[in-house]
Amino acid sequence: MLQSRYNIEYEALSSEQEFYKEAYVLLEGAIIEVISRLDIIRKYRTMQHSKDPIEHCKARIKTAESMKEKLKRKNLPVTVQSALTHVYDAAGIRIITTFIDDIYWIVGMLHNQQDIRVIEEKDYIHNPKSNGYRSYHMILQVPLHLEDRVTSVFCELQIRTIAMDCWASLEHRLKYKKDIPNQEVIVGELKRCSDEIASTDLNFQAIWDMIEKIDQD
Ligand code: GTP
Ligand code: MG
Repeated sequence: MLQSRYNIEYEALSSEQEFYKEAYVLLEGAIIEVISRLDIIRKYRTMQHSKDPIEHCKARIKTAESMKEKLKRKNLPVTVQSALTHVYDAAGIRIITTFIDDIYWIVGMLHNQQDIRVIEEKDYIHNPKSNGYRSYHMILQVPLHLEDRVTSVFCELQIRTIAMDCWASLEHRLKYKKDIPNQEVIVGELKRCSDEIASTDLNFQAIWDMIEKIDQD
């Protein structure tokens, strides 16, 4: 039910539950909490403006294997406690928008959630990575109401346009391809594609703004 409603990817469910134990429910809870809030506000806005700022959302709980590898790499104890307090991306949500402005609308809306704390932000749109990666990253601390207490869970958000997502998916796939000759040519081509995509995103935004203005006149 949750899986189909929220599109949460459960990879090798049993080993993740084995590692995270009851914290697995908290990670799932943080994802559901953030996505539910986004859902209500976006629907409300869509009714007002006839434009849904969100294309789609995807969420995942970091696989036990990947979490253990990250904890070892960072010289942290390989425990659930450490995974929940020192690593911020055990729960992750990717939000895909149509236009660049929608990204900043989502960022602003999340800042307005009084009980959610924004722990960290990285604007890889205004400051793209040297390889051409573009996205807006946020680390949120999400409150969860339990039977007798309130706890909180970190959640990593990646917010990007369809075009940025297309580039990131392709780059991710190529990154793990081994034995590619002319690596530097590929890296250069990817950077060039990223710049073209960034310019296309700006054009899409300008076209949308033009249409909106015509509608208002
Ligand atoms: P962590 O210690 O892993 O949190 O490192 P960080 O805080 O420096 O990571 P950052 O916020 O830059 O990136 C976190 C996530 O963003 C990664 O796990 C990827 O999913 C995505 N990401 C970051 N850089 C790239 C990139 O160059 N290409 C792609 N495809 N994804 C990226
Ligand atoms: Mg990080």
